[in-house]
Amino acid sequence: MKIIGINGSPRKGWNTHILIEQALKGAVQGGAQTELVNLYDLHFTGCISCFTCKRQDSTGLGHCAVKDDLKPLLEKVEAADGIVIGSPIYWGEVTASTRAFLERFLFQYLTYSKEQNSLLKKRIKTVFIFTGNVPEDHLEPMGYRAKFDDYKRLFDRFIGELQLFISTETLQVDDYAKYGMTMFDEAARKERRKEVFPLDCKRAFEAGDALARI
Ligand SMILES: Cc1cc2nc3c(=O)[nH]c(=O)nc-3n(C[C@H](O)[C@H](O)[C@H](O)COP(=O)(O)O)c2cc1C
Repeated sequence: MKIIGINGSPRKGWNTHILIEQALKGAVQGGAQTELVNLYDLHFTGCISCFTCKRQDSTGLGHCAVKDDLKPLLEKVEAADGIVIGSPIYWGEVTASTRAFLERFLFQYLTYSKEQNSLLKKRIKTVFIFTGNVPEDHLEPMGYRAKFDDYKRLFDRFIGELQLFISTETLQVDDYAKYGMTMFDEAARKERRKEVFPLDCKRAFEAGDALARI
């Protein structure tokens, strides 16, 4: 049982990274071997629409042909039994590197044929961790839930069952005054970091443990 963690946050040691690590620790408890890859350590682009992965006459059918730092990761993910991917919300979406990863990861398995749903010959379960400033009760009215559901649909179609995991109102910086972030209540955020974030970590651990026991 191999589970790959993919950190789509540029910040190591912050919210997203911590939650992914917790999920991977849970996966180890569940009996898995794990590996964590930081997308921002890699140099890669999004899909370049070369269509090699769709060529019926090619040995590369179903596999991204772009040769950059993402290629070995895509191969590792395909060989894995589970994925823990995490991204901060940037402008209502995943980060640019997460998006570039997803473009290539998902597109290689997409078919435009009526007969076949996905070129991936197995199903890989995924835990998708989002972190953001957004309060829990804004997720629905601000359209975040619909966005997350889009990812759920995409994974369900091309990869396997997706479990969404959201950590809201995260601590964004250590010292809010230093950055003029007066629209946030720093004391409340710090309190939340002490009281709620550890519960998010526990949930992430449990999600990783459950993922490893599939
Ligand atoms: C460029 C940028 C855009 C952001 N946009 C959003 C947003 O649209 N919604 C939100 O809830 N948080 C937004 N945030 C806040 C981050 O999602 C939040 O601080 C997150 O937990 C950071 O993750 P990290 O600690 O792993 O880096 C944004 C942060 C940055 C730097």
